[in-house]
Amino acid sequence: MILRNGNIFLLQTKGSSYFMQVLPSGHIEHIHYGASLISDMQYEKFMKNESAEEGLLSDMAKVLEIKHKNEGGNMVVYSKESYPLCLEVMPLEMSGFGKGDIREPLVELTFADGSSTCDFLFESAEISDELGSLETLPSSYDDLGKGAESAGEEDKAAPWEKDHAQQLTITLKDTGYDIRLKMIYKVYPECDTITRSAVLINDGDARVKVDRLLSIQIDFQQSGYQLTSFHGRWADEMGQTVSVCNAGKVVSEELAAGESGSRSNPFTMVSMPDTTETAGDCYGFNLVYSGNHYSSLSSNGTFLSRFVSGIQPTGFEWLLEAGEKFEAPEAVMTYSGRGFGGMSRSMHDFVRKHIVRGVWRDKERPILINNWEATYFNFNQNSLLKIAKEASKAGIELFVLDDGWFGKRNDDHAGLGDWIVNTKKLPDGLGGLAEKINAMGMKFGLWVEPEMVNEDSDLFRAHPEWAVRIPGRSHSVGRTQMILDLTRTDVQDYIIDALSKVFSSANISYIKWDMNRIFSDRFSLELPAERMKEFQHRYYIGLYRIMGTLTKKFPEILFEGCSAGGNRFDLGILSFFPQIWASDDTDAECRMDIQRGYSYGYPANTQGAHVSAVPNHQTLHTVPLETRFSVAAFGCFGYELNLGELSEQQRKQVADQVEFYKKWRKVFQFGDFYRLDKYRFMVVSKDKSAAVALIFQKESRPNNDYLALKTMGLDEDAVYEVANRQVSVNIKAFGSLINTMAPIHVKQDGIIHGIIARHYKMNGEKDEAVATGSMLNSCGVRLNPDYGGTGYGEDTRMFRTGDARLYVFARVE
Ligand code: GLA
Repeated sequence: MILRNGNIFLLQTKGSSYFMQVLPSGHIEHIHYGASLISDMQYEKFMKNESAEEGLLSDMAKVLEIKHKNEGGNMVVYSKESYPLCLEVMPLEMSGFGKGDIREPLVELTFADGSSTCDFLFESAEISDELGSLETLPSSYDDLGKGAESAGEEDKAAPWEKDHAQQLTITLKDTGYDIRLKMIYKVYPECDTITRSAVLINDGDARVKVDRLLSIQIDFQQSGYQLTSFHGRWADEMGQTVSVCNAGKVVSEELAAGESGSRSNPFTMVSMPDTTETAGDCYGFNLVYSGNHYSSLSSNGTFLSRFVSGIQPTGFEWLLEAGEKFEAPEAVMTYSGRGFGGMSRSMHDFVRKHIVRGVWRDKERPILINNWEATYFNFNQNSLLKIAKEASKAGIELFVLDDGWFGKRNDDHAGLGDWIVNTKKLPDGLGGLAEKINAMGMKFGLWVEPEMVNEDSDLFRAHPEWAVRIPGRSHSVGRTQMILDLTRTDVQDYIIDALSKVFSSANISYIKWDMNRIFSDRFSLELPAERMKEFQHRYYIGLYRIMGTLTKKFPEILFEGCSAGGNRFDLGILSFFPQIWASDDTDAECRMDIQRGYSYGYPANTQGAHVSAVPNHQTLHTVPLETRFSVAAFGCFGYELNLGELSEQQRKQVADQVEFYKKWRKVFQFGDFYRLDKYRFMVVSKDKSAAVALIFQKESRPNNDYLALKTMGLDEDAVYEVANRQVSVNIKAFGSLINTMAPIHVKQDGIIHGIIARHYKMNGEKDEAVATGSMLNSCGVRLNPDYGGTGYGEDTRMFRTGDARLYVFARVE
């Protein structure tokens, strides 16, 4: 809901209020963003547009507005008329550079006369029930309408359930030049999310240089907040870092990689140091953007903190000609008073409903098998079909052919750019292979890396000018490849055309879209020298055009983004592709950390997660098959190993995992996600009728763990049946302890040991209980004990370091 009383605006969601007013000077004071300022009853009244209530807004503003009565020492006073207004101490919706607000600005411009002082003041505001979209960049959308009203349950529904998304556009105009700044706010009541973007319009007759245009500025009326940001590197994404900002500035940025990045994800959180998983103020921020980004939390040494986020200003410039406009990416913000967990669940709902789109948005994603870690480049049709056959026997639904199927691509030195099937490896072409896979009852999917070219490729030989490099200078490569100049429309058109041919050449149901190097030697032959700093942003405008065109043209294809794993995991990509390969690290123990990192800002059904071989190819670490499954199940699930090389017992285990996942898939992919603690996750279906929890053994210690599994999010009024996923235990896991029960001496790992292991079936422990939701949420269920060194029985859980268990909760109806 967006309410307006004169020049006071209240943006209201289920549990948050965003409050601002236009000052007599024309600046917009940011009065409050956080806990809701009104009750449900008042929400209801406001929604009915009772103007008497709306009059309340101005009284409310007076309570919280800054009481600014004197000039602050050596501060700059904005103007004689507005004396003693000093912008430096005002919480503001936007700050320009040069009029006394000496904090981090939202916008920095250089005008034709060389001046860089901007002075944007309120001109007009408009509230609309229609949400607009940006022209050059992806943006959030709404197609939910008024849910409860259309379901005819209006009376019972809470006010936000009857509410709908709305947009507020505030236009500011510079006092000295004919340039306008539109600040666009979209309000999504049911998921406590508000988005902001900024558009600069040059209505003058001279060119303006945009030195920075960020997307969001939030002034908090307190210092001492902490910024949580997520950093890492290839195959180790989303490590959580907390920096408290009492004064000065903390920054999370992707400075120059040219993609949203594993080094620094654009998602950040602002909270108080005492915020916990379940309580306290937490703000989540993200950008609908895939390029270099910048977010900072600063404090000006008085009492204010400022959070800003947007396109990375370093290395960026944009020349805005008379009559042109420039769009900053949309920024997303979610507030929760229920800690990190509350914020995450709202953000997940927002991403699932208002970012992800297309036919796959609400559909359960298929279980896939990918051949990459099984074969790397070394495959042919027969070896692929063998893997596919095992997969289909296990109930897997989609076969994905990864890198190496095209051009002269037998290693990573050649072939990128030549999107023509290699008939030496695949004599029946993609069409023939897809038919054979389809005949096994599976869908067929394919890997592409369209933004790249190898010097050793027909494409590079034909169009060397399409590769990004500086004429006359040597260029740097990454994975021996170069980036195509996507700022050029001819290159964009080539990619659209080449991929359209590939996508139409076979029955393709899925595409993995990769991008395996970061940027260097930025240059485009088509850009004039003075515009070269526009390169990176133009690249993304070009990429989004390609992605938009192809996803519209092939709406049934399920696209999965990838950039050497999670090097471009962001809401820009998710606006086109419903899921992204989360990391090239498939070690389940590392994945616990990586997926937990993502879980703060991204729902499980956006994260690709696979079971791979052991020792793991990235860490050489061996983790049990059940653990690999349990962790990958909290994502878009699949396998990435040669099933044919597993033992028969393991293949049965895989088939059993597939069956289990299918049964609980909806809960895993669309449920509410809870971080119970660092090594326990839980998902609860939206209607709370079913849930699955995971416990992971980080470090096993004997006789130390009589643990209770305490849940979150179950229906307190309901009764649940609880059961663990029973696993089969291989006797070999007990090593030479077999001799404590064997009548003859068995040599560990000898032939007899192998025979016993094959024929002697052991089931792991069974935990079963019936309990009320409130009991489970407050105390939990006491589980059977771990093996503690003195005997193992049916009621003992084998729970070695690296083991995991899943528990399911089914509501008794
Ligand atoms: C990247 C991806 C992998 C795989 C390879 C293929 O590293 O992240 O999953 O597709 O490329 O070259």
